[in-house]
This record gives sequence, structure tokens and C-alpha cells, in this order.
Amino acid sequence: MMADESAPANAEPLDPDQGVEFRRTLSRFPTGVTVITVLAGDEVHGMTANAFTSVSLQPPLVLVSVDKRARMHRLMHDGEWFGVSVLAHDQDALSEHYAGRLGAVRPDHRFTFVRGTPLVERAVAHVVARIVRSYWGGDHSLFLGQVEYAAHVEGRPLLFHRGHYERLPLAEVSILSAMPEDLRRAVVAAGTERSFPAGRPIVGRDDEGDVAFVVLDGRVRIERDGRTLATIGPGELFGEIAVLDGGPRTADAIADVDTRCLTVSGRTLHRIVVEAPEAGWLMLQVLASRLRGS
Ligand SMILES: Cc1cc2nc3c(=O)[nH]c(=O)nc-3n(C[C@H](O)[C@H](O)[C@H](O)COP(=O)(O)O)c2cc1C
Repeated sequence: MMADESAPANAEPLDPDQGVEFRRTLSRFPTGVTVITVLAGDEVHGMTANAFTSVSLQPPLVLVSVDKRARMHRLMHDGEWFGVSVLAHDQDALSEHYAGRLGAVRPDHRFTFVRGTPLVERAVAHVVARIVRSYWGGDHSLFLGQVEYAAHVEGRPLLFHRGHYERLPLAEVSILSAMPEDLRRAVVAAGTERSFPAGRPIVGRDDEGDVAFVVLDGRVRIERDGRTLATIGPGELFGEIAVLDGGPRTADAIADVDTRCLTVSGRTLHRIVVEAPEAGWLMLQVLASRLRGS
């Protein structure tokens, strides 16, 4: 790795008052939250970081700013690769853990390895980069990495703003965004969030079709006679036309991974058809298309 860690001649520190205001000012810039990971021997070391940014598309470059006091600093200086996992909205405990704030408590999580580099499972985006340079950054160093692997899944990211974790509002979920603002708010307010662990049936064939579901996070398999008819991801709606008349369902819906859904009652769906025909039409097409090819 090439290093250019010399300080410019006029790098004066701020006085303490200005320092507080500087921190507060920067905290008004909302960011996602990443965990930077490296393999140190056969141990994974992770560090929560929001000072992560894209730099260049050709070649693909990213940058992370690391405190010189962090253990990660030494490891990145000595190492060649790092992983970046962009945390999902419900991974705040993991962020606290890798910021060293939870003491000995270790939230349940696992790693996958790409090019020998650990990545946090269930994150919404992953990058593996080779460290190509490091630069002086005051009490931090800036590590520039050439991206050798990038992948993402649909899902809501965790956000950090004014020193707190935040989430995108549910109304950002795509099927809901086709609805007028008032109706969308009513649907979100009338719906109930439910979680289903991986492998758990959500609804079964012959069940009464009284509710539809919008996937918030995770993935759902629609199956009939053990054959997969569709796989549904975040922002998508499922539930069959039966939802509108309460008739029996004709297929099984199973949580493929840990999944969270917003349930929407048949009554609310009727309201959508009447009050927002465009969204209603989209919804009917979606519900009908799930069983195509069956
Ligand atoms: C939301 C959040 C963002 C953070 N971003 C950074 C960052 O970009 N760079 C950094 O050096 N430390 C950052 N930290 C602090 C480190 O995560 C923390 O100092 C950590 O304990 C360092 O780990 P290590 O010394 O075990 O490597 C952040 C902490 C939080 C909670």
C-alpha cells in the first residue's frame, strides 16, 4: 500500500468550543451506517463507521476515514483488504457492538467471506476493497480502496443523523408510493407489522383470504404443491385476489429468510380500489400475477 501521511504545514487544531460546534454541525449530515471488517490472523475485526464514501466509478474506488486510536487503524495499515457492510435498519445493536459501546454483549450475527474478507450477513449492501493508498487526515487516516466486489439486496438501511439512529419511513416502500399521500398514510396506519422467522408459513392454501401483505424486509416464497411460483421481496405485495372476497387461498406463502410484513386488511384494500383507482389497478395486477404460470 502507498502512504502519503504527511500533515500540511498550516494544520492548526480547533479550540474546544469550536470543536463542539464542528461536531454538531457535521452531525446534521445524515449518513448510513457501515461495519468495516478485516481478517486479522483468523479473527474477524469489525469497526462501525459512517465516514465511508464513494470516490470514483472508473476505477471503482471507495474511502473510509479511521481514527488513529482505533485498533482498526493498525490493522488497515498492515493489511491489504477490507470489507464494508451497509447495515439494515434493524442492525443498530450491531452498530453499537462494533463501536465498542455494548461491552461484552455480542448481538447474534454471522459473517460470509468474499475474497477471504468477512462481511456481515443480512446487511443491505456489501463491498470488498483492496487498500491502494492511505492519506493524512488529521487525527484520522483516509484509506482508499479499489472495489473488487459489490453486491446489494433490497431492504431499508439504518441511518445515522444528529447522533441518533433513524429509519426511512415505511411510506418509502414502493407499492405504497403509487398511492396518494393521504391514502398511503391511512394504509400504513391501518396495517400491522408482523415478523416471520425463516421457514415459517405466513399463510397456507385453503386459509381464508382476509389480509394481504406488503414485504418490508426479507423474502417470501409463494408455493403450490411444493413448486415455487414466485419469490417476493421488500416493497412487494402478495395475498391473492381472494383477499377481496374472503375466499380460500390457493397457494402457500412461506418466509424464505427472516421476514417482516405489513398486513393490510381486505377492507383497506377495497378502500384503495375505490379511492385510488391507479394504485388499486396496480395492486390487482400484482395480486393476480403471482399465480401466473401455475
Ligand atoms: C454511528 C457511528 C459511526 C462511527 N464512525 C466512525 C468512523 O467513520 N471512523 C472511525 O474511526 N470511528 C467511527 N466510529 C467509532 C468507532 O466505531 C469506535 O471508535 C470503535 O470502538 C473503534 O473500534 P476498534 O478500536 O476496536 O477498531 C463510529 C461510531 C458510531 C457509533
